[in-house]
Amino acid sequence: MAIDELEYILEMWPLSDNTEDHLSSHHLLLQDRVRNETFRRAIRQVVRPGDLVLDIGAGTGILSAFALQAGARHVYLVESTDIISCAGKILKCSGWGRRATLLRAEAEKIRYVGRKVDVILIELIGSFGIDENILDVLVPVRDRALREGGSIIPRRLRLMAAPISHSGLERAMRVYHERRHGADLSPLAPLAHNNIYLFSFRTARFLAQPQKLIELDLVTCRQNRLDKRLDFEIERHGRLLGIVGWFEADLCEGISLSNHPHTNRTHWDQVMFPVGEPIPVCPGDAVSFRFRYSAAGAGDVWAWSGVVTTSDCRRVYRHSSQRRFPLRRVRTSTQLRIG
Ligand SMILES: C[S@@+](CC[C@H](N)C(=O)[O-])C[C@H]1O[C@@H](n2cnc3c(N)ncnc32)[C@H](O)[C@@H]1O
Repeated sequence: MAIDELEYILEMWPLSDNTEDHLSSHHLLLQDRVRNETFRRAIRQVVRPGDLVLDIGAGTGILSAFALQAGARHVYLVESTDIISCAGKILKCSGWGRRATLLRAEAEKIRYVGRKVDVILIELIGSFGIDENILDVLVPVRDRALREGGSIIPRRLRLMAAPISHSGLERAMRVYHERRHGADLSPLAPLAHNNIYLFSFRTARFLAQPQKLIELDLVTCRQNRLDKRLDFEIERHGRLLGIVGWFEADLCEGISLSNHPHTNRTHWDQVMFPVGEPIPVCPGDAVSFRFRYSAAGAGDVWAWSGVVTTSDCRRVYRHSSQRRFPLRRVRTSTQLRIG
């Protein structure tokens, strides 16, 4: 195996408080050949010679480099962390220093004056598409800085979902129902169920056909609140653990990127919304899944709920990031009386 085919995770000692400044997260992105080549092809297809391009969340500037290669007249990089200084050096060393302007800022909080850009690049794509806050950041910037008829890469984002079983994760979660080392760990179970799991679901079994939960056209969408329900019909026997979620991103017409759990070749994992205790299901059983999301600007809420109906039971599940700590409060004090 060639060295660059190996997956290295570089754990770095934090030298500053801002974890995004660490090279390790950008290392992962720069090493993701599928992501990078797909963006590069899309940028080559969309960016025209002479275009002005705005790169939101520019990181190391790799997407701007692709835009410059495609003939962009000038690229404007906005990045909220110190990694922007590396982007500046990379573009300068590559001979594009004069065609790039860099700003360290939160892109949605600045004024855009002068001309509008032809293309916006934004790779704030989380494992479930929206979980890196793309809606809160993109919508205000797009409205202020993109010219009429301009392009955004990615153009569309679809959030996909499917009910799954996963014996390995189920086994791992059983720790919350057991006595371990003489201690009863079951008080952790409500927290464990009221959690979104970020994990590689490569070996998960789909219990029903995947469905599209939401499709967002990033050129026109306005909403930073999502609320959608899906109804699944179970197609095979298994133990329902939860609903797995992933994204499909149309970067432009004909060029897409996805972290579908079974075909994923990117660095992104998937997310899983547990139904609670795993439930044995059979073909013909029904699972509903209601998903609600408010972006950080609207209060940052993740909520999922639904009903599982089998021949033996009807179980309702309801979870939300607003119920992060469903356990009884522990008294706080500045004094501890001993004895
Ligand atoms: C997933 S990385 C992508 C970096 C680069 N565009 C690439 O494709 O390799 C997202 C970057 O966006 C930055 N970021 C997050 N929120 C931002 C915001 N509101 N304004 C500007 N940058 C932001 C992060 O610091 C991070 O460097």
